[in-house]
Amino acid sequence: MLVWLDQHMEECMMGWMITAGIIMVFLILGPSAPYGRHVRKGWGPTLPAYIGWFIYETPALLGTFLFFYLFQGKISAGTAIPLVLWGIHYTYRAWIYPFRIRSRAKHMPYMIAASAILFNLGNTTILGWSFAQQDPISLSEWIRSWHHIVGLAVFGLGMFINHQSDAILLSLRKTGESHYSIPYGGFFRHVSSPNLLGEIIEWIGFAILSWHLGAVTFAVWTMANLIPRAMENHRWYKKSFEDYPSDRKILIPYLW
Ligand SMILES: NC(=O)c1ccc[n+]([C@@H]2O[C@H](COP(=O)([O-])OP(=O)(O)OC[C@H]3O[C@@H](n4cnc5c(N)ncnc54)[C@H](OP(=O)(O)O)[C@@H]3O)[C@@H](O)[C@H]2O)c1
Repeated sequence: MLVWLDQHMEECMMGWMITAGIIMVFLILGPSAPYGRHVRKGWGPTLPAYIGWFIYETPALLGTFLFFYLFQGKISAGTAIPLVLWGIHYTYRAWIYPFRIRSRAKHMPYMIAASAILFNLGNTTILGWSFAQQDPISLSEWIRSWHHIVGLAVFGLGMFINHQSDAILLSLRKTGESHYSIPYGGFFRHVSSPNLLGEIIEWIGFAILSWHLGAVTFAVWTMANLIPRAMENHRWYKKSFEDYPSDRKILIPYLW
């Protein structure tokens, strides 16, 4: 299997990208993924949402390192820096964020958790392979390339916006509460889903600093998943709160 993937990974990546495009069209035209405020009946049995996050993001955390190792990647500044950034992001998302969610009553369908695991396995295979293809470079060479520095800055900005927005959202409830209210402060002054905006910026930055098709593919997938969700969130806020700030945009400050 690994040998076959090693020989056909570029075709697999193209298929993966086309699938992302189709899913984006489906999500924009159809209903949003059924978790969180958009959860609906009819998706089969469910599990507590925070356990779901832990279970399906753990393969994302570990998979990239595992496949990098299995495809015999070499550690150098060019691979170590993005892999450390990946580890920081996903340690938070898989092992810290779920336990900061204060509502234990919220559930998600097993089907969502299972599809996220499948996605994470596919995505980390592509990323692990892509990093393993890179020629080793030293730290001084790494620092001299403009795209590494720009990518790192963009990634850092995205992570800041994402964490700040997550923190604002999670602070809206006390332990055990599950009601919704209007978030204020940070980038919520400008857009309805700054956590998703931050996530998209992060993975664009990651693609710029990693400089391979695997990371670009992941950035495209993230947009395919989160842009339709941000549109749905914005519609939901306007429908749910009469006093929702009218100048707040969907995802791009001042524009959209
Ligand atoms: N890389 C990717 O493709 C990807 C995909 C999905 C998510 N993520 C990241 O994972 C994180 C969570 O995503 P998400 O889609 O679950 O975000 P979300 O819908 O904004 O929810 C985040 C948390 O805040 C709570 N919350 C949201 N709006 C609230 C409000 N108005 N009042 C009170 N509580 C509120 C939610 O509770 P409920 O669950 O009860 O609604 C949930 O616990 C984000 O940082 C996102 O960027 C990344």
